[in-house]
Amino acid sequence: MTAYDNRDGFIWMDGALAPWRDATTHVLSHALHYASSVFEGERCYNGKIFKSREHSKRLLESGRQLDMPIPWSVDQIEEAKAAVLKANNLNEAYLRAVAWRGAGEDMGVASRRNPVRLAIAAWEWGAYYGDAKMQGAKLDIAKWKRPSPDTIPTSAKAAGLYMICTMSKHAAEAKGCSDALFFDYRGYVAEATGANVFFVKDGEVHTPIPDAILNGITRQTVIQMLKDMGITVHERHIMPEELAGFQQCWLTGTAAEVTPVGQIGDWHFQVGQLTRDVAAAYEKLVRS
Ligand SMILES: Cc1ncc(COP(=O)(O)O)c(C=O)c1O
Repeated sequence: MTAYDNRDGFIWMDGALAPWRDATTHVLSHALHYASSVFEGERCYNGKIFKSREHSKRLLESGRQLDMPIPWSVDQIEEAKAAVLKANNLNEAYLRAVAWRGAGEDMGVASRRNPVRLAIAAWEWGAYYGDAKMQGAKLDIAKWKRPSPDTIPTSAKAAGLYMICTMSKHAAEAKGCSDALFFDYRGYVAEATGANVFFVKDGEVHTPIPDAILNGITRQTVIQMLKDMGITVHERHIMPEELAGFQQCWLTGTAAEVTPVGQIGDWHFQVGQLTRDVAAAYEKLVRS
């Protein structure tokens, strides 16, 4: 594998395409010190970015929530994403847009005088959970809790929220798991480190209310798909002990797509028919 900073290609940065290796930022960038950074992960299928505008809107909204207005419009971001795909000759790709407070006159916590920068990169990226995509991923339980929306803006896709994700995923991988499931500050089942979670019981679907987690674009898409299939979806608070009564489980996310889960801690799930149907329907939808 080539390091991500040492590849051929082009990255869009602050309004122009830059050669891949030149898309750098200074070590005194505010974001590196204070996590003033928001981002998006998107997938392009057969030349078309799935829910592209929704991602661009969420990026701007995340910036707004961090008091970090991004100086680009949705239309400009859409154009930039198209330019990145074209310049890198990509038809099937993962895109990463990232906005951050750069270096400037401020080096303290307040950063209003520093510019808000934006970069967009794209590359080929296969299944996020590898073989688990078909066999059922094994998840650890994170020791950290998803925080309260009074503690940090939990609906922003902000870098600061991922600190405990990285630590939890490292701990999970050290135990042979693909990922970790978080509970939230109240003890409810929350989400994985980069994906939302769904459960099946007696043909009905249960998924956490997004009141302390990212309301994933894939999550919203899958809920609508299930409703269109005539399946009852309960968006509600789920207690960990309920996991014993669920028969199937899957994760949703732009990177994860629909990934079946076989095990969470000591709880086991089947990769059942509904999970397979939802994964297949999602695969079809993103390419339609
Ligand atoms: C913490 C977290 N939850 C959920 C998701 C799923 O969001 P989406 O479906 O918009 O990719 C992601 C991925 O972006 C994530 O990082």
